[in-house]
Amino acid sequence: MIVIGGSASSKLAQDLAAEMNATYIPAGVKRFPDGECYLRLGAESLDDEVVIVQNSYPDQNLVELLLLQDAAIGLGAKKITNVVPYFGYARQDTRFNKGEPWSARVMVDHIQLNADKVILVDIHNIDIMDWFDEADVTNIYAAPAIGRYFRDAAIDLVLAPDEGALKRAGLVAETLGCEWDYLIKTRLSGTQVHMSPKNIDAKNKKVLIVDDIISTGGTIAAATEELKRLGARSVYAACTHGLFIGGGLDRLRKNCDKIVSANTLENEVSVVSVAPEIAKAI
Ligand code: R5P
Repeated sequence: MIVIGGSASSKLAQDLAAEMNATYIPAGVKRFPDGECYLRLGAESLDDEVVIVQNSYPDQNLVELLLLQDAAIGLGAKKITNVVPYFGYARQDTRFNKGEPWSARVMVDHIQLNADKVILVDIHNIDIMDWFDEADVTNIYAAPAIGRYFRDAAIDLVLAPDEGALKRAGLVAETLGCEWDYLIKTRLSGTQVHMSPKNIDAKNKKVLIVDDIISTGGTIAAATEELKRLGARSVYAACTHGLFIGGGLDRLRKNCDKIVSANTLENEVSVVSVAPEIAKAI
């Protein structure tokens, strides 16, 4: 088996290749003077099963992913599995207003075009899986990896920032053998959210908040503030996809005692590897 690491996901691709004892090939990406993507795979032929690991975010990485598929086909790949650790546009999963595109669906159609199998990680809306009709699709969860990471941290309570994220919090809590619950989130704007206290006993507890995405950090900041107000001893936060837009990480560090993310997006705190989970799915 051969693992190709796109430029957005090269570290995870190398972890995955090591995990599976596979040959690693970097994407060999350069940019033309006008910014277009040039790539060349450094292999004579790919007469084997090929795994391409590449985020479809931001936009230019989607183009690189499509070009990688074609380059692998050109070298004779027998089967193409696309690992898309962070699937861009997953939150635009319907036409919210008249005249808008169905963005997540457009992404599915393009990604599956030249793939036999697609592996996603903690896809924001699980319904997206049903839209793959040309390729097999699997969604893997980062929760077991997050649980492993916090195994010795003596966490008392795992919280989801909203009810929709409760299942994820439950999976982490089960690994840790502690209780779990959720907060009530109201979004006020793109960067501001309000957290309602609900009936949570956080006093003197070490709390871990788990979400799929940290984008601006507004959700986790509001949750941390609320939990500290309720007397939490310390508040940790973990997410699968750490975007940390516009200084989000620095903002969170002011209040939150520890922040980690899985390695679907490479950032300063992407210390939780989902490579073992992806290897199992392959
Ligand atoms: C929302 O549905 C997601 O699960 C995250 O809670 C959200 O994307 C976090 O965004 P932010 O960090 O900007 O509050």
